[in-house]
Amino acid sequence: MWKIYTLTNKEFLPEYTLESKPDKKGSLSWQSPSNIALIKYWGKTGPQIPKNASVSFTLSNCHTTTRLFYKQKSPSAKKFDFKVFFEGKENTAFRPKIESFFKRIESYVPFVSSFEFEIHTKNSFPHSSGIASSASGMSALALCLMSLEKEIDRNMSSDHFFQKASFLARLGSGSAARSIKGPLVVWGSHPDIKGSNDAYGTVYPYEIDPVFSSFKDTILLVDQGVKQVSSTVGHNLMIDHPFAEARFKQAEENMTRLVPALQQGDLDAFIKIVEREALALHAMMMTSDPYFILMKPNTLKIIERIWDFRKRSGTPVCFTLDAGANVHVLYPQKDTEAADAFIQAELVSLCQENHYIKDQVGTGAVLL
Ligand code: DP6
Repeated sequence: MWKIYTLTNKEFLPEYTLESKPDKKGSLSWQSPSNIALIKYWGKTGPQIPKNASVSFTLSNCHTTTRLFYKQKSPSAKKFDFKVFFEGKENTAFRPKIESFFKRIESYVPFVSSFEFEIHTKNSFPHSSGIASSASGMSALALCLMSLEKEIDRNMSSDHFFQKASFLARLGSGSAARSIKGPLVVWGSHPDIKGSNDAYGTVYPYEIDPVFSSFKDTILLVDQGVKQVSSTVGHNLMIDHPFAEARFKQAEENMTRLVPALQQGDLDAFIKIVEREALALHAMMMTSDPYFILMKPNTLKIIERIWDFRKRSGTPVCFTLDAGANVHVLYPQKDTEAADAFIQAELVSLCQENHYIKDQVGTGAVLL
């Protein structure tokens, strides 16, 4: 089936003129969560359009806090003028990504070129933890820009505000589209998910068993170094990938299967879908041209120990993986005691410097 993509999402073009100026100077701050995908986004086209729909748990403790300082220049100024500070220090490494983000979003938020910005950002998780900060970082910045736009366009509805924040965040990093709300967010159009679309993330619209709104995620930091292959490069390797079409179809089918599992609290079905998605993601990396492996020996040891523990104890503990070596251990809140004891006894020693992060499903970004 052919999909037709529109390059301009007209609903997000501004309806105001820049004559209606906001305050000349000020600052705004948002805290945005990271997220962990259950159905993975891997492969995209056009301007950040995913090849399949994905869904994630919004996290709670892993987040980015961004304060945007703004100062108005002449309304006719054309150049982006910004400085980035990471954990209090000016950081030039983030500039290119933010510069290209500004270029992509400029037609939707044209005021960006008439301001001088200072972007001050920090993460709640360790800098070199191997946890991607692009989802929480881009979503926090997008929300700050939306708060500034709301000062210009004061009648903006709350729905429009959050949809457009997700839309802008997506143009910065695809998975960031899912880091605005919680507890479960879908991004990418799927025939079985009402309201789902490729332009922005939407809160999962159906009933979910309460077990899933308080799920735990203990993130085992197996490798805290910089990834050898970025997600962007990985997505591009799906373009001529021999298994691409089968993978996109599999993701679509897994989403269809996830709907009743979430509704019925069917943990067996949930575990099968989530672990299969994680391994399918890494299988794509291992079979692309060039191929690569992001898992480490301890990633596999952890997976084996999780399977063994689940079999012998019956505790519904499972794993998922990001585009890296770290393992997200997922389990229901009611099983915290057994799962935490298992993690302490058998998994923590497999983490780099015994480092791990305790997290759980969260409710979304907050204005500070
Ligand atoms: C494996 O959102 O980081 O985490 O759009 O190029 O910024 P870009 O990619 P990114 O890809 C995330 C890939 C993933 C799966 C997921 O979160 O769905």
